[in-house]
Amino acid sequence: MIFLTRRERFSAAHRMYRKDWSDSRNYEVFGKCSNPEWHGHNYTLYITVKGEIDSERGFLINLSDLKEIINDAVISKLDHRNINTEVDFMKDKIATTENLAVAIWDVLQPLIEERGVLLHRVRIEETENNSVDYYG
Ligand code: NI
Repeated sequence: MIFLTRRERFSAAHRMYRKDWSDSRNYEVFGKCSNPEWHGHNYTLYITVKGEIDSERGFLINLSDLKEIINDAVISKLDHRNINTEVDFMKDKIATTENLAVAIWDVLQPLIEERGVLLHRVRIEETENNSVDYYG
């Protein structure tokens, strides 16, 4: 079994909040990320896939195919967007990094499995200090 990771970056706006809570309750729970006027992060996304090396070709998956899948299905929908209001796969979800990692997994898993490899991990770094890992 071999593991391969592709890194991508995107910048996006969000607000972490619940509509059914007051601004002060949201601030208590979500802190600065609940600012009603939005704010942004420069996110780094790591997609790790796994499988057996193709003996004929010597690689796990064509990296340009993997890049294209991630860009088409995820990055193009997130980059320079508002995660709360513009991203179909985050509709009606709280715009946390945890929920984003799960949503990205759900979008990518079938597309990656079509290529004969398995999705292993979705890692998102929201800041240098905070990252989330999801293994499905
Ligand atoms: Ni934030």
